[in-house]
Amino acid sequence: MRSAADPVDVTAAVEVLRAGGLVAFPTETVYGLGADASNAAAVTRIFEVKGRPLGHPLIVHLSSADQLDEWAGAIPRDARRLAEACWPGPLTLLLPRSTRVPDVVTGGRSTVGLRVPAHPVALALLRAFGGGVAAPSANRFGRVSPTTVAHVRDDLGDDVDYVLDGGPCTVGVESTIVDLSGGEPEVLRAGGVSDDVLASVLGRPVPHWGGGGAARAPGMLAAHYAPRARVLVLEDPEAVDAATRSALAAGSVVGLLAPVVTDGLSLEVIELEPAGGPEDYARVLYDRLRQADRLGIEVLVVVPPPAEGVGVAVRDRLRRAATDA
Ligand code: TXA
Ligand code: MG
Repeated sequence: MRSAADPVDVTAAVEVLRAGGLVAFPTETVYGLGADASNAAAVTRIFEVKGRPLGHPLIVHLSSADQLDEWAGAIPRDARRLAEACWPGPLTLLLPRSTRVPDVVTGGRSTVGLRVPAHPVALALLRAFGGGVAAPSANRFGRVSPTTVAHVRDDLGDDVDYVLDGGPCTVGVESTIVDLSGGEPEVLRAGGVSDDVLASVLGRPVPHWGGGGAARAPGMLAAHYAPRARVLVLEDPEAVDAATRSALAAGSVVGLLAPVVTDGLSLEVIELEPAGGPEDYARVLYDRLRQADRLGIEVLVVVPPPAEGVGVAVRDRLRRAATDA
């Protein structure tokens, strides 16, 4: 939904970026909080506004794969194949960084995350700006990613210099991150590009990194995906029934998020609007988690989508949301 207060004025947004300001912009995954990636002071402000620790690296957004060689070096063939097949799209490639990438973007790491987003407003901004735009998700540190302009404004208020409204995000969960910085490619974060797509492009399955998030992709903390409610992820209808009953008996405000309407639910349970199959689920997930907070839900029982396509990423986020950080 667009309004006079949120004009899609790419020229004005580019001026803000050139002046070292911050622009919130839509992508197909989630809204980003962008700054000129070549301007270390501007990038530093992103961390201040988000309240994000300085060691957590940012993704640099580009308008086309033609810019790969400006921002990365030693680019393996697999990276070029993935870029060609999946960009613009919800895929971030981790590559050895080039000398033009400021330390503050990568938290001093030798790699840089690069992505060409598939959103007309983001692409218009990136093309008109010409350079790279460093951007994390446009939420305060510790909140779920924003998928509408209303989420961005709720979180960041006046701390962002310009907001481009591109409507609700169509994918709804963050990009898939594939590490191509050495050895065999590995998925560090499940996201909008499915395992099947990665495997078909590279001709072999791409393993998911099995370790905890912290060392390889700093910033992937459980708390990033957690609403204030305690989240219980349950698949079996009997387990859902037992969990809602015991939470109600303990006096909690109980909510339920499920793919479809659940029969036989206690009237006291607040049933959030059903989330649908994997793609619909991904699109509405973060809005439903924010809704749970707004409704004061204390225990949120969640029935996940099947682990198909983007359902893998949804299940990953729900698992993190359910972890006590
Ligand atoms: O879909 C997305 O990827 C969205 C949109 C705005 O593009 N961006 C996003 O950014 O989710 P952020 O900052 O919320 O998450 C990016 C993650 C970080 O948690 C960090 O761990 C990882 O990417 N990352 C980025 N650059 C990295 C690097 N050089 N080395 C390791 N991890 C990196
Ligand atoms: Mg984030």
